[in-house]
Amino acid sequence: MRSILSLTIALATLFTIKASGNEPAQVVTNNTSREAYAQAINPLSAEERQQFLQGRSLVRQSWIISPAMDNDIAGLGPLYNRNACIACHAKNGRGFAPDGPEESMRAMLVRLSLPGKTHTGAPVPHPAYGDQLQEFGAPGIEAEGRAHLHYEETEVTLNGGETVRLRKPTLKFSGLAYGPLPGNIQTSARIAPAIYGMGLLEAIADDTLLALQAQPKPGSIKGRVNRVWSIEQQQQVIGRFGWKANVATVREQTASALAGDMGLSSHLFPHGNCAERQAACRQAPVSGTPEIPATQLAQMELYQLALAVPSPRHQDDPRVQRGALLFRQAQCAACHLPEIRTSEFPRLAALGNQTIAPYTDLLLHDMGPELADRRPDFSAIGSEWRTPPLWGIGLAKQVEPNAGFLHDGRARTILEAILWHGGEAQESRTMVQKMSPQDRQWLLDFIESL
Ligand code: HEC
Ligand code: HEC
Repeated sequence: MRSILSLTIALATLFTIKASGNEPAQVVTNNTSREAYAQAINPLSAEERQQFLQGRSLVRQSWIISPAMDNDIAGLGPLYNRNACIACHAKNGRGFAPDGPEESMRAMLVRLSLPGKTHTGAPVPHPAYGDQLQEFGAPGIEAEGRAHLHYEETEVTLNGGETVRLRKPTLKFSGLAYGPLPGNIQTSARIAPAIYGMGLLEAIADDTLLALQAQPKPGSIKGRVNRVWSIEQQQQVIGRFGWKANVATVREQTASALAGDMGLSSHLFPHGNCAERQAACRQAPVSGTPEIPATQLAQMELYQLALAVPSPRHQDDPRVQRGALLFRQAQCAACHLPEIRTSEFPRLAALGNQTIAPYTDLLLHDMGPELADRRPDFSAIGSEWRTPPLWGIGLAKQVEPNAGFLHDGRARTILEAILWHGGEAQESRTMVQKMSPQDRQWLLDFIESL
């Protein structure tokens, strides 16, 4: 009797699923190759699939300087950092810091500002350099200058005797073409984060983030949302993207990268990245007004929204399971949240109402003076950073062998990243330092399994 009943229920469920045509969405991928971060979620409609492929070409495009024979791919600069999104986000993965002052910044950038805030609450751009140092210029337009990282090394000894060398970066500039920077200039060196799973993070409702902010947390852990200016909505909204949750949406992040990193204008950034006092930059030829039409911006947005997240691996391995327990015990999970639910997401319905394991709360946390950049970014102060998602992090070096960790890429390994945790995460870091070598290895095995 019972089995007939359950069979009937099973059939009924099957029927409803079939009848509404709603196969459960597959937002993760089992791909573990170098292409692990370049897979699409399933299902995508035929039209979404088309946009995904067009967006992919644009994100992979190497742009060229105007005027050019092929106007479709022109518009780079006249001031820029790199000529393609994937020059910094190689295979959609994270960037890295140079190993010393002679090496150039290949997958990172330096934000600049003067003390204070603009009327929107944004950092105040420098009148001649803007809010980001562009290291390259088109012919006839002087590049702004070069940024160099100098390191000071220290050694930490862990329980069991293992020593770890940590490198603390200091930033210096050379060849500044638009005059010296004032003594009170605020700077922030940041590596490119990975760009998969963006849609799932955008599909978390504001209310969910506000509830996370209000929730009591262990020890000295707090956490708050950043409030940023949305150019598109022309109002203050909750920030989610960037190392300080300094940008509202994937579309705005993409438009700001097109302008800030490559000098390509869009309807959201009609003037590209020429600063107030850069006359030559403002008069340089453009490939269109804007250079990136809204349809192309939407394709790039959809591509990133639809990039699947790698599934965790080795979840049956007892060492990984023991590591997962230690991750909770060391309070890592209070910020790196193992579970969040997304809400309705009309822009890409498959991302809605999913239980995801991003290992972030998207909140800002005070990480202490050692990690501070002393450059406020909307409501984030210098020592506050957004908890970065840890999903897929175990494949970072598989995708980009140089991949770095933490906002400025100072950490070369996950263990180094943990040992830089201070402020609200000080207790967690101390617990890791005091763990037996065996436990510490299991904790790292767990993070590598994500
Ligand atoms: C010069 C290197 C560089 C280039 C080129 C670049 N990015 Fe980025 N990207 C970064 C850095 C650095 C950040 C973090 C910015 C911050 O914290 O303010 C970032 C952040 C992002 C984020 C947010 C990720 C997150 O986890 O919050 C997305 C999405 C993104 N970039 C997409 C793009 C796209 C699309 C392009 C091309 C149009 C692009 N980027 C070009 C360096 C780069
Ligand atoms: C108070 C919140 C908080 C706690 C607790 C915490 N973290 Fe973090 N974690 C952060 C923030 C914020 C960053 C980014 C800091 C930066 O970039 O300067 C970070 C960065 C990381 C990174 C580097 C991620 C990347 O994308 O480069 C790893 C790995 C990491 N944490 C693991 C852990 C582990 C393991 C624990 C527990 C031992 C832990 N964290 C505890 C907030 C926290």
